[in-house]
Amino acid sequence: EPIPMEMHKVKIVQQLHLLPTARRLEKMQRAGFNTFQLHNGDIFLDMLTDSGVNAMSDLQQSAMLRADDAYAGSETFFRMRDKLEELFGMPFCLPAHQGRACENILATRFVKPDSCVIMNYHFTTAKAHITRLGGRVEELVRAEGLVSKSDLPFKGNIDLEALETCILRETPANVPFVRLEAGTNLIGGQPISFANMQAATDICRRHGVLTVLDASLLQDNLYFIKTREKEMQSLSVREITRKIADLFDIIYFSARKFGFARGGAILVRDEALFHSMEDLVPMFEGFLTYGGMSVKEMEAMTVGFEESMDMDVISQGPQFIDYCVDRLSEYGIPVITPGGGLGAHIDVKEFLPHVPQTEYSACALACALYICGGIRGMERGTLSEERERDGSERIASMELLRLAFPRRVFTLSQTEYVIDRVKWLFDHRDLVGGLRFVHEPATLRFFTGVLEPT
Ligand code: F0G
Repeated sequence: EPIPMEMHKVKIVQQLHLLPTARRLEKMQRAGFNTFQLHNGDIFLDMLTDSGVNAMSDLQQSAMLRADDAYAGSETFFRMRDKLEELFGMPFCLPAHQGRACENILATRFVKPDSCVIMNYHFTTAKAHITRLGGRVEELVRAEGLVSKSDLPFKGNIDLEALETCILRETPANVPFVRLEAGTNLIGGQPISFANMQAATDICRRHGVLTVLDASLLQDNLYFIKTREKEMQSLSVREITRKIADLFDIIYFSARKFGFARGGAILVRDEALFHSMEDLVPMFEGFLTYGGMSVKEMEAMTVGFEESMDMDVISQGPQFIDYCVDRLSEYGIPVITPGGGLGAHIDVKEFLPHVPQTEYSACALACALYICGGIRGMERGTLSEERERDGSERIASMELLRLAFPRRVFTLSQTEYVIDRVKWLFDHRDLVGGLRFVHEPATLRFFTGVLEPT
């Protein structure tokens, strides 16, 4: 088993603090047993997310200095748009302040009451924008994608037969678009193969249904296509990127997730399609040449996209995650395998069999890991679901604790510390009980919910 190697060196550091256990318990009580409500200064290793907390390169930082600030017509925007067109072949770019803003624009433009948006798997904000407008989401990831222990390389793949059946059942006119999510977040950062994207978009094209790629986690997905999909191994990352982009009508991304600090955008090939969404950008985001982003972050993105074409850059996340997943797995800890992108994912149904999902077991485990190690992870399970329309609890098909690996942030010794603390928690899992709501928000309740031990 090779040890992952940091292909970069540290230039600027941020001091970390490890509070004593008793203080961490106090902080967790004050946070309402919700890791989103902790203060970052009370956290040793923040593995909540990779969103907006990735390390920047020296070249990104220096590019920020030449940012051209203008309300309209910023040169920075045109540099970014040109880079995106060079890599994705899509000439039209609608900038937005982050990924969910793109989702808002797409849903506002395309979703009507009772529309059915088909996905390999939903993402929380993507779904919330669709259901906000009365639409429905149909998730057609292949059944094997939801099996936590596996050696299948592309667990994010959509079930092609089910996709076609669903389009016919709904009728193409009632399917505003099919959304494929690269590096499928909520099932453990699992990639989609190029072959699956190609076949799925073929089906959509035959039925005249629009195709949308959520490319937020494309960096990881590119790495996995390059290393796991035989037919693609002779191609460069740049060539693979272009071949993927050529399959879709629309690509959008959260730049926060793509590996950068802020921002997002929708890319479109067709001019009429672009104009049909254009007016929503100044309405919700800002003028068409910044869309709520600062020019500094746009310059950093432009450089970052180019750096994403380098395997030594995009391999870092997946290789550290793989190392962590392998060590935990060897110890008998239930984790999603094979290791995906984004982070290591613990299968909480098996880690805490004595805590029912209705008591938000993944959230409970996240709280326990903070108390026992000062590590902040994120619940990705029942708490992250929305209640059904009748108010009943929607039990998540996967109950996960995610330990995100922001890109190029943590070292191997910090990774070893995480492994050590998770092992300790596994050996003492009887100490962990369930949670219930004290205050339950109506939507996206994992962000602001307040809980207490049952
Ligand atoms: N799509 C995917 C696949 C995402 O993972 C996210 C965000 C979004 C869209 C929304 O983008 O946050 O910029 O508005 N994922 C973050 C996470 C929040 O931590 O998993 P955003």
